[in-house]
Amino acid sequence: MKLHGNMREPDILSWLLERNASRLSELYSTADETRKKNVGEEVHLRGLIEISNFCSENCLYCGIRNENKAVVRYRMDENEILDSARVATGFGYGTVVLQAGEDAGIDAHWLADVVKKLKSGFDLAVTLSMGERHLDDLALWREAGADRYLLRFETSDLRLFNHIHATNCARHPRLEKLQQIKALGYETGSGVLVGVPGQTHESLARDICTFRELDLDMVGIGPFVPHPGTPLAAEFARQRSDSGFVANSEEMVYKVLALTRILCPQANIPSTTALATINSQAGRQNGLNRGANVIMPNVTPGSYRRLYEIYPAKASSTETAGQTNKAVLDMLNSISRPRGKGKGFRAGATEADRD
Ligand code: 5AD
Repeated sequence: MKLHGNMREPDILSWLLERNASRLSELYSTADETRKKNVGEEVHLRGLIEISNFCSENCLYCGIRNENKAVVRYRMDENEILDSARVATGFGYGTVVLQAGEDAGIDAHWLADVVKKLKSGFDLAVTLSMGERHLDDLALWREAGADRYLLRFETSDLRLFNHIHATNCARHPRLEKLQQIKALGYETGSGVLVGVPGQTHESLARDICTFRELDLDMVGIGPFVPHPGTPLAAEFARQRSDSGFVANSEEMVYKVLALTRILCPQANIPSTTALATINSQAGRQNGLNRGANVIMPNVTPGSYRRLYEIYPAKASSTETAGQTNKAVLDMLNSISRPRGKGKGFRAGATEADRD
């Protein structure tokens, strides 16, 4: 069966449905070789700062959705964010990722100022993950020096997208937003959930082709993890295991990860926290051996990180930044992969290109 960067959707679909262990190990080793050849052995570390869990949206899968009244809400102030960035640089990370719910309380000018301070005070790349913000805000932040923007499109299937976001959009809003983000000159990241109820293998094959069509710089892939405070947890519990829909299993995540590496050889691909959540023992390292080349260790202060519960039992949610850092470095040592130097821009781009 075909296994190369120009594979078409039907071949990708057959790989998603593949169950033969020796064929799957061929898939994983091809992805691993493709990773080695295109982005090398280095694993880039990005310090994740979860700056606010306020959210105006009601995504049916997400624990910090607006209607989840059980969530205690917080928003970090500027000094707390700069302190977390100091922790990240202290660990030698080359990037901080500022992530939040869709929080109108994050004033665009305020965040632009924080970005400027991060860029002038530290030698860091700054990634933002603030949801579907207005073009003017995205432009302002880019102007302020933000290097990258993450916005997962979650699924390319518009019907499923509308269902899991309680929307009724005629066109895919995030695919449109990603075009704006790219046009502003951000390194652009996206990704999907694997195994959300109602997801077909055909649509997942389309998602993977969409990563290639968008020529993404970063692609994040993680399993759907049901959160009891959300409507999709009940829908997940009702879905029969023989439904024919995509499983939210570790193996399915590895297949998607490996196929993504083969189709997007130069992309930065994290071994995600959600993967580490469903296999706390080996999820992260298995991801790195099946196509991934990035880890995003959490550096959010402990009092807040427990509250950023997009799904339950999130890996590292009860650790300190120091403990997470040590666990990640020990794991890299154990698989003989060096940590990345510099800011870890997309392969092929030089740091000078980005300034
Ligand atoms: N399970 C797994 N991933 C989730 N996300 C949100 N809720 C869940 C969940 N229940 C992911 C989404 C979002 C990213 C920040 O977290 O894909 O884009």
